[in-house]
Amino acid sequence: MSILVTGGAGYIGGHMVLALLDAGEKVVVLDNLSTGFRWAIPPGAVFVEGDVGDRALVAEILAKHGIEAIAHFAAKIVVPESVIDPLAYYLNNAAKARDLIDCAVKAGIKQFIFSSTAAIYGEPSVSPILEDVVPAPINPYGRSKLMVEWMLADADRAYGLSTVVLRYFNVAGADPRGRLGQSSPVATHLIKIAVQAALGHRNGMEVFGTDYPTPDGSCVRDYIQVTDLVAAHLQALAYLRAGGKSITCNCGYGRGLSVLEIVDVVKSVSGVDFPVRIVGRREGDPPSLIADATRVREVLGWHPRHEDVRGMVKQAMDWERRLHNVGSPNGDELSYTHP
Ligand code: UFG
Repeated sequence: MSILVTGGAGYIGGHMVLALLDAGEKVVVLDNLSTGFRWAIPPGAVFVEGDVGDRALVAEILAKHGIEAIAHFAAKIVVPESVIDPLAYYLNNAAKARDLIDCAVKAGIKQFIFSSTAAIYGEPSVSPILEDVVPAPINPYGRSKLMVEWMLADADRAYGLSTVVLRYFNVAGADPRGRLGQSSPVATHLIKIAVQAALGHRNGMEVFGTDYPTPDGSCVRDYIQVTDLVAAHLQALAYLRAGGKSITCNCGYGRGLSVLEIVDVVKSVSGVDFPVRIVGRREGDPPSLIADATRVREVLGWHPRHEDVRGMVKQAMDWERRLHNVGSPNGDELSYTHP
């Protein structure tokens, strides 16, 4: 039996593929390479280039490879882009997920792991955030992910599809063994941007707002290291295999770090005092997003191992250096044969 990983050529899905192979699992990757990279798929995985919305292809994969469970990572993930082109997000993230779920149900698959997001919470008034808070997404990206959560809950009730929904907080860092990291050509995430500033790949960086109701005025986030995040997916798989009922879990450490604190860590780890400009708020940024991560620890038995933020930053920096020195601008030349 194999695990189907959609979006397995991307940042988080790619780390999931590595973790599954490391654990001795058989893996099939389905990815349309719209944002992922062919080189990111290790030789041990079967790769099918295609779209999760291609029902004939998905049905063929499910039958041919004896798929036991699906881990669905493939999605568009850029919040401002979702505001500009919401229908692309509803098609890609919601409608195509509906097709994938339908194919799974028709093929008799009973186990599904879904990549959701803290963006479904919108601007919550409580902190830390429990999974039971009523979702109130404030952008099409968050809404498209919430729609899939609803479909999965209904599919469980109607057809018995057991699902673990994992709501990611801010994912950062890279594979500690240096095999993979965040490789998108255009950086939007704070740690990647700060690391690029430290390495001189950009001329400093901006901090979006220091007038929030937080201890130092900058936004607070719960940064989770990517290998720890995928470890929660492996726990989810074990949980489903043991007959666990559908469940939704936050994935974070339950610890908040401000933008200014992250900038300080990147300066300290790199030893570079890069220029930082304080500018106005970025639209749609909630002041603080911190997970209550009790459930993922207690129910899934998750034990994170990479909580040290300096380690996370160092991994991101090592990967960024490697991308810059070895890869082409879009990373296509990187391969597992490179140093
Ligand atoms: N920030 C800066 N300067 C930058 C980049 C970011 O100050 O150059 C700030 C942002 O304003 C925000 C914080 O750093 O306050 C984190 O921003 P990110 O863009 O790294 O992450 P977000 O919290 O905005 O979003 C992330 C994911 C989304 C997901 C969301 C859920 O990118 O996909 O977490 O919490 F929806």
